[in-house]
Amino acid sequence: MAKRVFSGIQPTGTLHIGNYLGAIRNWVNLQRDHDCIYCVVDYHAITIDVDPRELKTASRSMALDLLACGVDPERSILFVQADVPQHAELAWILSCVTSYGDLARMTQFKDKSEKQEFVSAGLFTYPILQAADILIHKAQGVPVGEDQVQHVEISRRIARRFNSRFGELFAEPEPIVTKGARIMSLADPTSKMSKSSGEAHYVGVMEAETSIRRKVRSAVTDIGLTPGETMSAGVANLFQILEIACELQGDATTVAELRSEFSEGRLLYSRLKDMTFDQLMGVLRPIQERRAKLAASGDVREILADGARRASEIARATMHDVRKLVGLGTEA
Ligand code: TYM
Repeated sequence: MAKRVFSGIQPTGTLHIGNYLGAIRNWVNLQRDHDCIYCVVDYHAITIDVDPRELKTASRSMALDLLACGVDPERSILFVQADVPQHAELAWILSCVTSYGDLARMTQFKDKSEKQEFVSAGLFTYPILQAADILIHKAQGVPVGEDQVQHVEISRRIARRFNSRFGELFAEPEPIVTKGARIMSLADPTSKMSKSSGEAHYVGVMEAETSIRRKVRSAVTDIGLTPGETMSAGVANLFQILEIACELQGDATTVAELRSEFSEGRLLYSRLKDMTFDQLMGVLRPIQERRAKLAASGDVREILADGARRASEIARATMHDVRKLVGLGTEA
């Protein structure tokens, strides 16, 4: 049987090239030979303040973005998390086999809680819900960017503790991480590209070409060198983006050429930026065109309803076994 893969993305903000190059392109690739389940995680989104009037639209819009990137509902299950409430039910049960100390060590909680005025318990227990997402579908592989690896590791520990306390049920999931797993901000290449740092820091997958050009052209390149390194973080980040964009288009020569110009000390950063912009647009343009067509077709609701139905079947079966092992409820 093909290995099962699960991954998720929050519907808050727009999809950026960090998400795409670090994770979503792997979601798309894995569809070739894996049994894939992909999820827009709206329960996770409410761990911080989001406008309830916008959440549903944001979830549908993120699903459209994923379809445009190549998630294929014929081959994968695509659904919105809260359409399958068993995820939240399992999260409660898993919270009883999660160590408080493990949660307190999560770096993402430390980073995110510093930015919030009100720090919810949900933000703290967020990794338990993420473990529930993965485990309820008995996924073995989880394609993610580097920032999520720690959450996959805690999911492994949660699975192990559940199995030893209640009986063998869950596989221990492995992160699937590839090149591009940590794309940095263009305006501050010492921090990771993220939706929350502000407009100048990220490039949206659906962003207008003129705006992408402006952002790539003004990318920070000269921030000085870290001792022991020969390339600044900003230049390395542009090379990383360029390299993956070229690979995606089957171009093996451009990067090698620019790298040798760099090592000979004759690479103009304006040329590196122009090439990065051109190659990136070569990847993004077809996605943007597909997004426009999909939005016009109006099929996303049906796709998500079908995805939720298929995901529910799996989730219900797992919850049946979980409730039995744990001794919950009174049903036979
Ligand atoms: P989220 O929504 O922040 O990001 C979605 C995916 O994009 C990756 N990513 C990046 N990769 C490379 N460079 C970057 N700068 C960058 N920024 C983001 C993330 O690593 C992620 O793979 N907690 C998750 C969502 C989630 C989930 C799950 C993931 C909920 N349940 C179960 C996997 C399995 C999150 O907030 O991702």
